[in-house]
Amino acid sequence: MLENYSDLIKDALPKKFGVKGKYLALVKTFGCQQNFADSERICGILKESGFDFTEDENKADLIVFNTCAIRKHAEDRFFAFLGNTKKLKRSNKNLVVVVCGCMPQKEEIFNKIKTTFPFVDLVLGTDYFRVFSKFLYKSFKSKNMLYFNEIKNDGICADDSLPVKRTDKIKASVPIMYGCNNFCSYCIVPYVRGRERSRDLFKILDEVKGLVGKGYKEILLLGQNVNSYGKDLKNNINFSELLKRIDEIEGDFWVRFMTSNPKDVTKELIDTMANSKHITPYMHLPVQSGNNRVLKIMNRKYTKEQYEEIVEYAKSKIPGLCLSTDIIVGFPGETEKEFLDTVDLVKKVKFFLIYSFIFSKREGTLAAKMDDPVPYKEKSRRLRYLLEVQKNITDNLFASFVGSTQRVLVEEGSERPEVFLARTPGNILTKVYSKEKEILGKFLKIKILSSTRTYLEGEEVQK
Ligand code: 5AD
Ligand code: SF4
Repeated sequence: MLENYSDLIKDALPKKFGVKGKYLALVKTFGCQQNFADSERICGILKESGFDFTEDENKADLIVFNTCAIRKHAEDRFFAFLGNTKKLKRSNKNLVVVVCGCMPQKEEIFNKIKTTFPFVDLVLGTDYFRVFSKFLYKSFKSKNMLYFNEIKNDGICADDSLPVKRTDKIKASVPIMYGCNNFCSYCIVPYVRGRERSRDLFKILDEVKGLVGKGYKEILLLGQNVNSYGKDLKNNINFSELLKRIDEIEGDFWVRFMTSNPKDVTKELIDTMANSKHITPYMHLPVQSGNNRVLKIMNRKYTKEQYEEIVEYAKSKIPGLCLSTDIIVGFPGETEKEFLDTVDLVKKVKFFLIYSFIFSKREGTLAAKMDDPVPYKEKSRRLRYLLEVQKNITDNLFASFVGSTQRVLVEEGSERPEVFLARTPGNILTKVYSKEKEILGKFLKIKILSSTRTYLEGEEVQK
């Protein structure tokens, strides 16, 4: 059991690293919110196992890389970091290096680590953060690099209640499901995170209640495709029903969720958002492309028209709805005209934020086998053009907030004592000017005075 292995590690620390006051771990996370959430659990397990934490790699006894495989760029960054670790290992022969997360789920990545970075002690696939202490303990006892990557897909893994070391005191993420069944043709996620597994309803509700009780103000429900929540459970609780149950929890807090696949967004979900107390008028709704042929070969299972219809319905039901999206530019075979269809959709929907990426070939996916005649330079041009179009949209959208009053959540301080960083219900970054010092974690009513391309600015409305 978990506690046992944590205790075993605790007992083994002096022998492994020498007798000292503190044993320090550095957990370096790449990638998405899901990975950051997994890392908070890895840190929770490490804390239970007797570790403290450091940001200084030179002081670390244990370095854990929680990796991301979504695009090649993320992989390259990780390998650069791992390369640097080699000299640390030379100067500190006791250093333990663990690589986990999405990348080593792929055998070829493990083979590369084994041949190029043989100093790594332990390599774990995506599901192993749940049993981190067990495998860390195994590696303490082994002279060789150990590798485990089996995903059981048996539902047990999703039903976790792990210790969590949260990085934030105001916002907390709560995974509600793991994995993805969609197999969008460009995406590695279903291969590295396995099939969809939903967490038990009552465990989620207890976790959210506990967080609200501790004073957390924003709960982010996480899943690769939150709209599939419950499809693998036998209690007839779908995502909308889960939201309704969470919405019944007493307290002053916001709920957000990500990510929603547009094909699964129902009117029931939108109505639930519209009628709720706690769910914010914000949706991250990745469209990927605004062209039906491209959407089809991406295997997205919705058309541009269907996407626009959902957006229209949501805007009509949820006042002040703010939308963000993901877009892939230069999907194999995307023509200029098809790209311009995406630009048209972006102009029409008016997202306040787009995350746009040039297509990155992921071996093992269907898209990796498709003909990709468009040169990279041309894809970069398309991306720059799209970002230029989006700049104007953001400018106008943000300017339309000037003069309005917003209830914001103050999330962070800044280098200037009177300036704080907050978010509107729609998730727009807002600089708040306030003479009061104790406003972190508070909801404030502010008047928006001006806007820039990246944030709104406002001051507290006098009570
Ligand atoms: N190339 C480029 N972008 C990708 N994404 C996923 N896979 C790829 C890929 N192979 C993007 C999608 C997804 C986001 C998380 O990352 O837009 O929504
Ligand atoms: Fe990848 Fe598509 Fe699943 Fe999102 S829904 S994780 S893009 S396969």
